[in-house]
Amino acid sequence: MKRILVTGGAGFIGVNYVHHMIEHSDSAITILDKMTYAANRQSLDLLPPSRVKLIVGDIADAVLVDELVSKHDVVVHFAAESHNDNSLHDPGVFVRTNVIGTFELLEAVRRHDVRFHHISTDEVYGDLALDDPQRFTETTPYNPSSPYSSTKASSDLLVRAWVRSFGINATLSNCSNNYGPFQHVEKFIPRQITNVLTGAKPKLYGDGTNVRDWIHVRDHSSAVQRIVEQGQSGHTYLIGADGEKNNKDVLRIILRLMGEAEDAFDHVIDRPGHDLRYAIDSTILRSELGWTPRYTDIESGLSQTIDWYSNHRTWWEPGKAKTENRYAQQLQMTSEAT
Ligand code: NAD
Ligand code: TYD
Repeated sequence: MKRILVTGGAGFIGVNYVHHMIEHSDSAITILDKMTYAANRQSLDLLPPSRVKLIVGDIADAVLVDELVSKHDVVVHFAAESHNDNSLHDPGVFVRTNVIGTFELLEAVRRHDVRFHHISTDEVYGDLALDDPQRFTETTPYNPSSPYSSTKASSDLLVRAWVRSFGINATLSNCSNNYGPFQHVEKFIPRQITNVLTGAKPKLYGDGTNVRDWIHVRDHSSAVQRIVEQGQSGHTYLIGADGEKNNKDVLRIILRLMGEAEDAFDHVIDRPGHDLRYAIDSTILRSELGWTPRYTDIESGLSQTIDWYSNHRTWWEPGKAKTENRYAQQLQMTSEAT
């Protein structure tokens, strides 16, 4: 039985991965999570206590990290400050968690010779023109735009350097935008679904032509399992499911599925520095490791996600008003600065 340390396992993608590993392996899992605003204890309710343990702590705490890493066979590192809009207003915590936190984990896996997998984002590559025939590949140069993506890029570079300089056994994956259950209501898709459910209008940034390459979080989990089990140390794998769609089209689908008029949304001031388009070419992961995504029908994925938020109001309702207040404050600061 493998002992896996999952950082950020009480957040959106981390907890989906923990659920996936409980179903698809016999591993014992320790979650290390600081339980920031982005975490939710209710997400852990259905996990078996005999196989999953939660340690509340900070990945930047060197002593705690060293002790935990020494007791595990693998570290799968999801913990991060993950929201672009927040990074534009409070970048310091992004540097501490995403850069310093990753550094502490790398030092610990180096000392204890523990397998490490680093979760990252396609946003490290910057953005593409809408009509660019190219998509991101493993060799696309790094060109991050925001404090969030630049701190993720920094952490990726640390991992690569620790492989090359110290020979740690580590892989990296850069995935496109995820959606599905347990995603915080600050993010695009759950924000709009829960706006409709609370009688508020969805909010579209700018003209809504920005394109994201959507992947269901379950497909991300299966890809990470494949890379952890079969990936080659030092290699980066891009994870994507050919799900490019612009924000306006995604929003129109959500509104239609929820029985609302497709134009029942507000246009709001655009995000400063807003990346135009992300698109992933995941050929290497598919051809070298034989992975294929299974949940690629975005309409049925969105419909199931709408059902999930409709049926789990106690999971998201306590954080909804706080999130919208934060957005209102951020909007005011952005308007004052422009
Ligand atoms: P999330 O914000 O939902 O969850 C992050 C988790 O990390 C939370 O549980 C939080 O409490 C924890 N955390 C934050 N700071 C910590 C610290 N200092 N120590 C310990 N725990 C801490 O994020 P997510 O969307 O689940 O993203 C997970 C990972 O996947 C991140 O590394 C992110 O960059 C990457 N990623 C996300 C997406 C996406 O679409 N959301 C896409 C590609 C990659
Ligand atoms: P988001 O979920 O924040 O992910 P990311 O910034 O990492 O891509 O946003 C996805 C897209 O949706 C992005 O182009 C910004 C846009 N967006 C809106 O139009 N309205 C919103 O309320 C939010 C949160 C995002």
